[in-house]
Amino acid sequence: MDDADLTSGAALKHLQHPRFARAYARAVEQMNRRGATEHRRRMLAGLHGTVIEMGAGDGSAFALYPPAVTHVLALEPDDYLRSLALNRAADASVPVTVRPAAAERIPADDGSADAVVASLVLCSVANQAAVLAEIRRVLRPGGTLAYYEHVRSGRPVLAAVEDLLTPAWQRLAGGCHPNRDTLGAITAAGFTIRENRRFGFAVQAMTPPVAHILGHATSPGPPG
Ligand SMILES: C[S@@+](CC[C@H](N)C(=O)[O-])C[C@H]1O[C@@H](n2cnc3c(N)ncnc32)[C@H](O)[C@@H]1O
Repeated sequence: MDDADLTSGAALKHLQHPRFARAYARAVEQMNRRGATEHRRRMLAGLHGTVIEMGAGDGSAFALYPPAVTHVLALEPDDYLRSLALNRAADASVPVTVRPAAAERIPADDGSADAVVASLVLCSVANQAAVLAEIRRVLRPGGTLAYYEHVRSGRPVLAAVEDLLTPAWQRLAGGCHPNRDTLGAITAAGFTIRENRRFGFAVQAMTPPVAHILGHATSPGPPG
């Protein structure tokens, strides 16, 4: 499949969530003020060279990339969020190209990226294992997966509540699963965790803290 097929409207139709996209664009500003900007900054610290950001949303991370990053290919399948990201790309701290594409089929060559950024997106992809294999494909051996994700609670009762909520939440929130063990999935995909922080974060003033992970993992290179 060539690049044009990966990025066509038809290929991304199932990833349009206009109502969620507008609600998220309003909510993310408060979330950023409450701490997400600092979390994103920590996730991006130490990155350099060529970076691919998956599901970039409104481009909240663009102004936070360190100067050692030479180029960011930012992928966003949703038309509304991508229009906001395109505006933010103009004020980015480093060169950013925004393209319509899904994490399942990244328009980049094998082993071409120094780092891939996954920020609050591995909760939403349909198949984490397939996306993590695709991330390994585009990362050079020794390349970095930088992640910031909300994850399944470590408390059994809360995790059971998340399991119950997931089917409805998925429909309301653009495919988001509140109950995923994303750190386990990253490890199972063959990455080596270099550092990982786990913490509770209340994304809005009236919502309870939810478990998040933030860290860096090393890729062994494209899957055999
Ligand atoms: C909760 S938002 C997070 C946006 C942004 N990364 C951030 O940190 O604010 C989830 C994002 O993932 C995107 N997304 C959902 N499914 C995707 C997929 N299969 N491939 C790439 N992006 C996807 C959505 O369009 C949305 O921008």
